[in-house]
Amino acid sequence: MVMSNELVQQGLRRIEWAGRDMPVVRRLGEEWARSKPLEGARIAACLHVTTETANLVWALRAAGAEVALCASNPLSTQDDVAAALRSAWGVPVYARRGASTEEYYQHIRQAIRIRPHLTVDDGADLVGVLHAELSEELEEVLAGTEETTTGVLRLQAMARESRLRYPIVAVNEASTKHMFDNRYGTGQSVVDGIMRATNRLLAGCRFVVVGYGWCGRGVASRARGLGARVTVVETDPRKALEAAMDGYDVDDMAGAARKGDVFVTVTGGWRVIDWEHMELMKDGAILANAGHFDVEINLSVLREKAREVREVRPGVTGYVLPDDRTLFVLGEGRLVNLACAEGHPAQVMDMSFANQALVIEWLWRERPALEPRVHPVPAAIDRRVATLKLEAMGLRVQPLTPEQEEYLKSWETGTR
Ligand code: ADE
Repeated sequence: MVMSNELVQQGLRRIEWAGRDMPVVRRLGEEWARSKPLEGARIAACLHVTTETANLVWALRAAGAEVALCASNPLSTQDDVAAALRSAWGVPVYARRGASTEEYYQHIRQAIRIRPHLTVDDGADLVGVLHAELSEELEEVLAGTEETTTGVLRLQAMARESRLRYPIVAVNEASTKHMFDNRYGTGQSVVDGIMRATNRLLAGCRFVVVGYGWCGRGVASRARGLGARVTVVETDPRKALEAAMDGYDVDDMAGAARKGDVFVTVTGGWRVIDWEHMELMKDGAILANAGHFDVEINLSVLREKAREVREVRPGVTGYVLPDDRTLFVLGEGRLVNLACAEGHPAQVMDMSFANQALVIEWLWRERPALEPRVHPVPAAIDRRVATLKLEAMGLRVQPLTPEQEEYLKSWETGTR
C-alpha cells in the first residue's frame, strides 16, 4: 500500500507529466489566470479522474471557476490523481477506483451539491441523476457539455421525450474531438489496455473489432499495425463496406465468434456479444469492451453458465464453462483502456479538453439563448482548437490567396 502523502506526490508528478503534452489546455489556463473569465461559475464535472482531467480542472480553476469532480466510471479513477487534487489543490473529488454502483451514484450526488451553473458530463450519468432526483439543484443550471458518443445519444433521447431541462453542447461532435480522441486515443489506449492486462502477442492473432465507428476504426488500425489479423463486425452496411475497403475481413458475429482470439466491443450497443456467440468461441478467447457502459458483453449469462470464475491476473477474469473452455474477460467488461491502462494519451485529451474548456467559457460568457436540447460545438471553437494545436506542434497551414478564396465562392469559371 502506497502511503497517502506518497500517493499525493505521485499524483502530482503524473499530472505534471500529462500537462507537458497538453499545451493547448495549459495555454488557455495561463491566459485565463489573468482574465478570469469563469469568475463566479460553479461547475460539477463527471469525468474519468485521470491526469488529463486534472489538467482540465486546473485550467477551469485558473479561470476562476469553482469545480467539484466525480468519476464517470466506477473503475477508471486513478486514486493518486484523486488524492493529489483533494490534498494538494483542495478540489472536492468524489471518486474511488473500484467504487460500488451505489457509491458511484452517491459520488455524483455529492458533486452536484456544489449547485452547479454548468455541468460537464461523460456518459450523461450526472445529467440523469440531476433530472431524476435533484430538481432543486437543476434550477440553477444554465447549460452543460457532454464528452462522449453514448452520452450524446442518451441526451438526445431525453430531448426527444422533452425531458431535458437545459441545453447541452455535444463536445463529442467537434471534429477536433472525435477524429482524434475517438480514433487515435481509443485506438492506442485499447490496445495498450489489452497488452498490459494480458501481455499477449497480437501479431498473428485473430482480432475481432465489433463496431466500426471512429473508435472501432482506431482500434482496428492499431491492432493491424501490431500484426493482428483483424475481423470487423458491423451492423451498418456502409460502415461494413468501408471496413472491407480498408482491407479488413468483415463477418457477422457468429462467423467472427468461431475464429476470434481477441474480441473488442466498441458499439455503444446492448449485449452485442451474447451467449449464442460465447458458445461458439475458442477455449482461451479474450473479451474486452471499449464502449462507455459495461453492457456490450453479456456478463450475467457468462456468470450464470460458468462452473468457476477466477481472477487469473489483475484485470483478467477467467470463466470456466461446463465444457471446460475458459473465456477471459478484461477489466470486468468496463472500458478496457481505463480499467486496464491509463486511458487516452494526453496529446489527444488536450484537444478534447480544450473543446470542453472553450465551450464552458463561451457558455458562461455569452449565455447563448439555446433550447434545452443537444447542440453542436460552435465551428469557430472547433477551428480554434485545431489552430492552437497545430501552433503548439510547430506546424503551419497554407492560407488561401484572395484569388483562391474568390474562386471558391464563384460559379462563373467552368471548363477552360
Ligand atoms: N477518456 C478516455 N481517456 C481519458 C483520459 N485519459 N482522461 C479522461 N477521460 C478519458
